[in-house]
Amino acid sequence: MNLAGKKIVLGLTGGIACYKAAELARGLVKAGASVQVVMTEASRHFITPVTMQALSGKPVYTDQWDSRISNNMAHIDLSRDADAILIAPCSADFMRKLVHGAADDLLSTLCLARPATVPLLVAPAMNVEMWENPATQRNAEQLRKDGVSLLGPVAGDQACGETGLGRMMEPEQLLEDLSAFFHPKLLAGKKVMITAGPTFEPIDPVRGITNLSSGKMGFAIARAARAAGAEVTLVSGPTALPRPSSVTLLPVTTAREMHDAVMSQIAAQDLFIAVAAVADWRVASVSGQKIKKQEGQIPSLQFEQNPDILAAVAALPSPPYCVGFAAESEDLLAHGAAKREKKHIPLLVGNIGHQTFGKDDNELVLFDEQGHHRLPRASKDALAQTLIKEIAQRIYRKPSA
Ligand code: C5P
Repeated sequence: MNLAGKKIVLGLTGGIACYKAAELARGLVKAGASVQVVMTEASRHFITPVTMQALSGKPVYTDQWDSRISNNMAHIDLSRDADAILIAPCSADFMRKLVHGAADDLLSTLCLARPATVPLLVAPAMNVEMWENPATQRNAEQLRKDGVSLLGPVAGDQACGETGLGRMMEPEQLLEDLSAFFHPKLLAGKKVMITAGPTFEPIDPVRGITNLSSGKMGFAIARAARAAGAEVTLVSGPTALPRPSSVTLLPVTTAREMHDAVMSQIAAQDLFIAVAAVADWRVASVSGQKIKKQEGQIPSLQFEQNPDILAAVAALPSPPYCVGFAAESEDLLAHGAAKREKKHIPLLVGNIGHQTFGKDDNELVLFDEQGHHRLPRASKDALAQTLIKEIAQRIYRKPSA
């Protein structure tokens, strides 16, 4: 997440999700943003300005008549200075106020006074019945028509004890969506499928064979593709990673399940990025019961070949643009170029060294028809963004005459 230098007005309205706004403010600051918190009266029943000041590092504004602003035009000063205004949580009532252009407190007035160039993002948070009420739905629709970005709400357990749509998105997801908002939309309108993580090949109901892939690189690429405006489907083996925001996640376990999930939706894709560390072999006959330990007997396993998902996609009559990954323990340069040719793919990404599994950074080398070039060591998030730029350039590059 990178929001370095971004000036964000964070507005809080009345709702129990205000407790999440504290973590959101902290995350924004951590991501490099400068955060100016503005709170409505209702929000101050849930959380105090003291908390928000401590976390944002700046005094909070609550009142249109705040004497700290010398010209007494807080609504103008605060809205002119912002790169974005984020209302989180945004109550049903505040949505209504935005729809009607209300200006009866500082936050609604500064939203109304914001120049057209300052984006407004709102994260609705309310009881499920309030969200589903036709009045709120009409307001949500009107806000979208007015160019306001709605982040969530999401479904789940609610503080009131009910379950359903209306929960505010988690701070981590809101940060992801906000930082995506500022990214150039290099893949706008493109459908991208990404495989990630390891696969798990069962031996019996309690044992199996897997590998050390954490899924971090594939998930980072999914986030970067989505930030670049793509519609992303992430087919992932078992990982411990949080689901990326606004991405369709298809969880799978085995290589064959991954193959089937990919093939079921590949026809619609413009781009396929195979990052998963797919098991090359599976156990030929999986035991239906736990294999019992018997004195003096060591079981032996027979293996069968798993499908090569990337090669299968690349061999389709009209394949999407295919990108493969390679983790070689030695002589990456020779193996990488050969692997690209063998798999019939335009771009192959090599991990330099095979110690990248589970780490937060990486060093890559790209192989294409013109040769290879390195992407120096950086965080997986930064590399994922660079990779998406590299891919976008290639997708839109005119074929040479
Ligand atoms: O042949 P190798 O396994 O080294 O190729 C790695 C690339 O192929 C990766 O992009 C990986 O996701 C993909 N792959 C696959 N299905 C397999 C094996 C590898 O999609 N069964």
